[in-house]
Amino acid sequence: MSDSNGHRLLPTVEDTEALGRELAEQLEPGDLVILDGPLGAGKTALTRGIAAGLGVQGRVSSPTFIIARQHRAGNHPGAVALVHVDAYRLGGDLDELDALDLDTDIDDAVVVVEWGTGVVEHLSDRHLRVQLRREPESDVRTADWTWLATN
Ligand SMILES: Nc1ncnc2c1ncn2[C@@H]1O[C@H](COP(=O)(O)OP(=O)(O)OP(=O)(O)O)[C@@H](O)[C@H]1O
Ligand SMILES: [Mg+2]
Repeated sequence: MSDSNGHRLLPTVEDTEALGRELAEQLEPGDLVILDGPLGAGKTALTRGIAAGLGVQGRVSSPTFIIARQHRAGNHPGAVALVHVDAYRLGGDLDELDALDLDTDIDDAVVVVEWGTGVVEHLSDRHLRVQLRREPESDVRTADWTWLATN
């Protein structure tokens, strides 16, 4: 599937995970995904869908206390690894992913970063930005996604 931008209503957590599986079809090794949205918006749920779509190993959980979680590629042809980063505690000073001392070669993996806006854009010449929103009153959730070039 070619790169696409879009908008979607996400009534349930399953819808968020399904969107993640769809977005995974656009992703290739070396791609960067930046997830933006408030606490509990569904960033980790979306990552779970991306992981399912890529077919990576291991359960996706919130990486909050370890900063980065690495998921090995599955066994199918063309399988891609996933690096799931939580930039919430990085405080905007992630100069290089190298600093995280990953075992995964970033060029062979899809890198998904929660709270990555303004922190990790420079790691790639372009990224998929997903903005998750949650209306406090109605609890209606939405996603907007767009491919952006790094300036
Ligand atoms: N439509 C929905 N999409 C995503 N999550 C939903 C939805 N409806 C309810 N939820 C619930 O909201 C919570 C979302 O949690 P999740 O960990 O994915 O958010 P997060 O954005 O990663 O939060 P954090 O900023 O703490 O990392 C889960 O408990 C999930 O079950
Ligand atoms: Mg999270």
